Amino acid sequence: MARARRKLRILVVHGPNLNLLGVRQPTVYGTTTLAEIDRELAKRAAAHGATVWSYQSNVEGELVTRIQQARTTADAILINAAAYTHTSVAIRDALDAVALPAIEVHLSHLARREDFRQISLVGPACIGQVSGFGASSYYLALEAAIAHLEKEDQR
Ligand code: DQA
Repeated sequence: MARARRKLRILVVHGPNLNLLGVRQPTVYGTTTLAEIDRELAKRAAAHGATVWSYQSNVEGELVTRIQQARTTADAILINAAAYTHTSVAIRDALDAVALPAIEVHLSHLARREDFRQISLVGPACIGQVSGFGASSYYLALEAAIAHLEKEDQR
């Protein structure tokens, strides 16, 4: 007999300066605003019967606190830690602590950018990374998270 499917809950975490998407270096990060990305994620999640909550902060500790809260309220995390990707042991530790499947997201293609962006401290706490597809990086990561959780549920 088929098992009842749980309603998947996905937290989307956006780090510093991503609130300025749309006006921030559009040649690098595109013209889609964060609100547009969040709306599209919610729409796509709903089409899968899933729910997303999006959270943005420019403050490292606030991002850590929100990730900690996900331990009991979410099934997976999509995270664009932005500049904190390259510096934050605290965000890496929070992801390890909650032990949820997390996917690292970047609008730009990090491999083609400056040396200081080649190191991701959060990457090892994630199950995968999507980088370089602009706003679509988030949508691809959402598909990947849902596929991952559905596979887990079949086990
Ligand atoms: C970014 C890449 C980071 O290096 C940068 O600091 C950002 C955005 C991206 O989405 O491409 O703020 O995470």
